[in-house]
Amino acid sequence: MNENIEFLQAFLKNPGKVGSITPSSPELAQKMIERIKPSKDNAVLELGVGTGAITKFLQEIVTDDISYLGIELDRDLVRSLRRNFPDMCIVRGNACDTSSIYQRSGVGKIGYIICCLPFVSLPNEVGEQILLEIDKFMQQGCTFRTFQYAHGYYFPSAIKLRAFMHDRFGKAKRSPLIVKNVPPAYTLTWSTV
Ligand SMILES: C[S@@+](CC[C@H](N)C(=O)[O-])C[C@H]1O[C@@H](n2cnc3c(N)ncnc32)[C@H](O)[C@@H]1O
Repeated sequence: MNENIEFLQAFLKNPGKVGSITPSSPELAQKMIERIKPSKDNAVLELGVGTGAITKFLQEIVTDDISYLGIELDRDLVRSLRRNFPDMCIVRGNACDTSSIYQRSGVGKIGYIICCLPFVSLPNEVGEQILLEIDKFMQQGCTFRTFQYAHGYYFPSAIKLRAFMHDRFGKAKRSPLIVKNVPPAYTLTWSTV
């Protein structure tokens, strides 16, 4: 099935959890993986894999099966991701359970978190739980990258995420606005390595 149609179907089924009507553009995907060098000691954890818009770029730089773990909630998307990315470790699960999913996965030490979750439209308590999970990996030394849409940049939940990260890990590195994405977005990166 066409990726855009598959994404739109997922959105129509669950708008709050999907949070966008189109997958990330190649320009945003490339910015999300900039300077990432996956290895078993610096594995990539991708949260909210969707249709794999970023995964397809990650696939080109992940060289073995213990350097990548993807977590996606939607059952239909996971079924199609497994068909499209048979060599990538993609688990159907909730990012609220990230550390236990990771412990069972056999994937190496997480060095990068590529987070595509729509914090703006997730319930508060879910967003808070996921941030606590992310914090556990950051405490071990990790780079965290997410994107925020320009139109939602000052929504309370977007500000809350930035404040949570800023309080613990300092100032974010923000990319220029990626206008070739619908809608335009910034990437934000914090690192504890
Ligand atoms: C904005 S889409 C991003 C998809 C893709 N990474 C991209 O950039 O095009 C967010 C994805 O996060 C997934 N998601 C939402 N809440 C989740 C959760 N609690 N745990 C895991 N995945 C979740 C949704 O099903 C959706 O596929």
